[in-house]
Amino acid sequence: MSDPLRLGIAGLGTVGAGVLRIVRQKTALMRARTGREIVISAVSARDRNRDRGVPIGDYAWEDDAVALAKRDDVDIFVELIGGENGPAKAATEAALNAGKDVVTANKALLAHHGQALAELAEAKGAVLRFEAAVAGGIPVIKTLTEALAGNDITRVMGVMNGTCNYILTRMEDAGLSYEEAFAEADGLGYLEADPNLDVGGIDAGHKLSILAAIAFGTQVNFDAVELEGIGRVTIEDIRQAADMGYRIKLLGVSRMTGRGLEQSMAPCLVPETSPLGQLQGGTNMVVIDGDQVGQIVLRGAGAGAGPTASAVMGDILDIARGTRVATFGQPATSLRAAKPARAATPVPYYLRMALLDKPGALAKVATALGDAGISINRMRQYDHVTDTAPVLIVTHKTTQESLDAALAAMGKTGVVDGEPVALRIEEV
Ligand code: HSE
Repeated sequence: MSDPLRLGIAGLGTVGAGVLRIVRQKTALMRARTGREIVISAVSARDRNRDRGVPIGDYAWEDDAVALAKRDDVDIFVELIGGENGPAKAATEAALNAGKDVVTANKALLAHHGQALAELAEAKGAVLRFEAAVAGGIPVIKTLTEALAGNDITRVMGVMNGTCNYILTRMEDAGLSYEEAFAEADGLGYLEADPNLDVGGIDAGHKLSILAAIAFGTQVNFDAVELEGIGRVTIEDIRQAADMGYRIKLLGVSRMTGRGLEQSMAPCLVPETSPLGQLQGGTNMVVIDGDQVGQIVLRGAGAGAGPTASAVMGDILDIARGTRVATFGQPATSLRAAKPARAATPVPYYLRMALLDKPGALAKVATALGDAGISINRMRQYDHVTDTAPVLIVTHKTTQESLDAALAAMGKTGVVDGEPVALRIEEV
């Protein structure tokens, strides 16, 4: 039997406590699978005395995560503190500088500092693993870096924020307004301390930028993600989209194009019958298209103690087995700085507008679309509500640029009341 593998765990919240529980309860299973004993040397958190439902008295205590990361009796530093800077970053850097392997669940850290940390890990001969950072329990990092390594990836997309999917699903199923569904999610404790991380699309954008780096061999670039949250999605859009056979999801999509790397996280329509359309509640889904494998769909819990700790343990056991994969699937110094490109791959669009009850109003809207080279696929007008009528249009594939031109022209017709809603329809 090899020497025990000694963990130092920083951050004892939901996920940290979940990891402690697995390490304490599954000793024999882990020994059988790796040939090594997995032990915890020391832990660190903000509050030593909080009841976590799992005893911590057997382990050395450090108030300071950086001190924990540097301990001689720690082989793997497990970072479960969170946050893009502060102690999480300082302790991760300290561990890597000391040549220790790091396992983290921290998407913000990777999205903002992934390239520098990957280069540091490589320079020090350490590995940096982060399966739990993207889509909780779904093994998407391992799938992309290892199982699909023989593919050119053509698109990676997914629903990667369970809270947003819960809110959108409740709006659709229970007819709740955005505000009501948000309050319900808040009551259930789903929202991050800063809710904008969830509903503003930032958390999901972090995850998309990490997946794009692995999929396309590029330096992680969160700042280039085109971000739009779900705050402007109305119950009307949810209903009208459903009427046309679609569901609205906060969808991340990344593609490498001739113009550069597209990364977009925004509310999109997907066919109701597609796997993404069927995704309910807080569940996550990642859809990957590879030139050899075709399309694969991964679905599972994106948060929670068990699923996230499961992903952390997968990384720890890989290290115990001697698996050492480059952070983003290839040497950090070989990752390209991709040119960011605005999402411009032609897709169909869903448009909803309130049209004034005037002769020729519909013709003017159709002309604005036609003049921009946009062809209408489907159209529906509902009964007038006072002096306007809701009109829905599904276009054939067109670019964002053409759509912007059409929307600008519509604004000048004087027959559209307010701003039309325009949402991409992603084909899956
Ligand atoms: N807040 C995230 C979600 C989980 O709702 O999916 C952590 O990334």
